[in-house]
Amino acid sequence: MRVSGTVRVPGDKSITHRALLLAAMARGRSHIGGALTSLDARSSARVLRQLGAAISRLRDGAVIAVDGCGRLRRPARTLDCGNSGTTARLLTGLLAAHRFRATLSGDRSLRRRPMRRVTDPLTLMGARFAMDGDGLPLEVRGGPLRPIRYDMPVSSAQIKSALLLAGLAGGVAVALREPTGQSRDHTERLLGAFGFPIGLRDGWLEFEPAGRIAPFDLQVPGDISSAAFLIGAALLAEGGELRLSGVGVNPTRTGSLAVLRRMGATLEIVAGGSELAEPVADVIVAPTPLRGADVAAAEIPGLIDEIPLLAVLASRAEGVSVFHEVGELRVKESDRLALIAENLRAVGARAEASGNTLHVEGGAAPPRGRVRTAGDHRLAMAFAVLGTVRGARVTVDDRRCADVSFPGFDALLRQIGGRR
Ligand code: S3P
Repeated sequence: MRVSGTVRVPGDKSITHRALLLAAMARGRSHIGGALTSLDARSSARVLRQLGAAISRLRDGAVIAVDGCGRLRRPARTLDCGNSGTTARLLTGLLAAHRFRATLSGDRSLRRRPMRRVTDPLTLMGARFAMDGDGLPLEVRGGPLRPIRYDMPVSSAQIKSALLLAGLAGGVAVALREPTGQSRDHTERLLGAFGFPIGLRDGWLEFEPAGRIAPFDLQVPGDISSAAFLIGAALLAEGGELRLSGVGVNPTRTGSLAVLRRMGATLEIVAGGSELAEPVADVIVAPTPLRGADVAAAEIPGLIDEIPLLAVLASRAEGVSVFHEVGELRVKESDRLALIAENLRAVGARAEASGNTLHVEGGAAPPRGRVRTAGDHRLAMAFAVLGTVRGARVTVDDRRCADVSFPGFDALLRQIGGRR
């Protein structure tokens, strides 16, 4: 296959969630252009409407108007966060500062994901929770909060953002330190762009909630985590060149591009300005033979969502790739660590997940077999990309789950030339 053309991927999922949440907290009308309209984004919009924000319909290409209500209102029913961990965790932080009770739940996958990582520090801040075990459903019993200075047990933008939003809504200072590498900093950048004192000092992220959020206008950049799948398809192709325009290239999100370069990929990044402190660029990519890579623990937070894709590319590279300290993948939308290895083996590649380490051996035989996604969108897309190589016969059990983060993925993959 050959790749060609210039395409735009849907808006960034992390920034869309944050823009919706922050706009709901502002008093007045905000406008969000280029927002993601996927199932996860709809989950955030749906629960924020239940909490009193008026949000126009999420339609591709439309500017979303959000009429924020300042303080959120007590919801009449359970808040269903669908498949979205970001919705559940960030909202838990926000609700912790509100004097009412609210119950959060989600789909089967979300209900098995850990929530104590946010409720533990929020409890230290003074919030209370009713929950069985470590997951949803959980009831948030919010109220007045205390400041917190907290050493996070894992580097996670969801924990960090939940605590920052609690500090913002509760009017209390928050200081946080991440253990290994820096997770995505979209919340910090937005709060900084809105004029709040926030920054890193001696390894601590320090935030002062000085004042309220004013309504804002924001253009959401394209999602680099979605772009990564098309970049992967282009690298595996036999000819041509692909341009992805308007992709967000925040340095806490571009870890996969650095690894791909180490693997030998030909990538050109053409800077295209920035949007509310978020850098944007075009990414130009051409097919390249790849070699294996060693991916260190400190790099993981910057490419956490790209590991399924990097792993399938590693299965086509020369030599062995090792991903260190990727245990967090076990608590994503599926046990991604186990399923990456299991599915690579199912299509004839050599891969092993042992403890917190993933090994993938490269090979040239056409991948053939059936892939089990467990409804995990990133597994579906990564293996669909692997299915584009010459001679491949890869059946993905559920391709539609891509809609969680990347509506139109199949059509775009076909459009660039990736599917016979
Ligand atoms: C996200 C943070 C990451 C990432 C997820 C989105 C966010 O999760 O995997 O897809 O928007 O904050 P963790 O914070 O659990 O690492």
